[in-house]
Amino acid sequence: MRTPIIAGNWKLNKTPHEAIELVTELKREVSDVEGVDIVVCPVAVALTDVNDVVRDSNIELGAQNLFWEDAGAFTGEMSGPIIKAAGCKYVIIGHSERRQYFGETNETVNKRIRAALNSGLIPIVCVGESLEEREGDQTFDVVRDHVTGALSGFTADEVAAMVIAYEPVWAIGTGKTATPDQAQEVHQYIRGLLKELYNEEVSGAVRLQYGGSVKPDNIEELIAQPDIDGALVGGASLKSDSFAGIVKGAISKVTG
Ligand code: 13P
Repeated sequence: MRTPIIAGNWKLNKTPHEAIELVTELKREVSDVEGVDIVVCPVAVALTDVNDVVRDSNIELGAQNLFWEDAGAFTGEMSGPIIKAAGCKYVIIGHSERRQYFGETNETVNKRIRAALNSGLIPIVCVGESLEEREGDQTFDVVRDHVTGALSGFTADEVAAMVIAYEPVWAIGTGKTATPDQAQEVHQYIRGLLKELYNEEVSGAVRLQYGGSVKPDNIEELIAQPDIDGALVGGASLKSDSFAGIVKGAISKVTG
């Protein structure tokens, strides 16, 4: 049984002060939740403050990106060892906004995943097609390209511990959620691809999150799908009640 994982990607939102407020409320609202991994990913400068709040709670910390070198003359970057020292267990890698606005490619995603593993961080690897690609019937080709490019050179054991987030770009921040069937179809494809590239064990172990306009009122039908193990949440993670609602909706995966 794969443990459901709900992660909040706060993107470029919340000052350290606001981040502390949000996570303090969230901590109270999800304190009795068991059986679901809960992750928050604030802006880099809020990581240590948020870590102070979530330490010894059931909330874990993630970063939104990292650079592949550990240290040196790389102005403006964050590295695996630094993120790890700030309290992170997870790091989001290859988000479509980074591919779109910051020149992220399969190759740089691959290097960042290597750096994450070297620092003992669990990568949340983002893949997904744009609207034009979906309308051009290229969804599976794009997802295959993202997954194979990201995972190139990693061993079966390394891949088994990763999280992959399927985030169709057309569903991000648009209020347009993929239907449970649309999401399941791609998740099933990714799981099949993992079996083809590695083996059944890896395919059965990797946790697959759906991302794109996830809310408290659609999480249950999404996570009820056999290959959907959780969600990567943007907008709805910025309010403690809606994020807690999504976390609680995910318990249905455990209790049936
Ligand atoms: P929204 O939940 O705002 O659509 O964002 C999804 C996302 O990009 C999470 O990484």
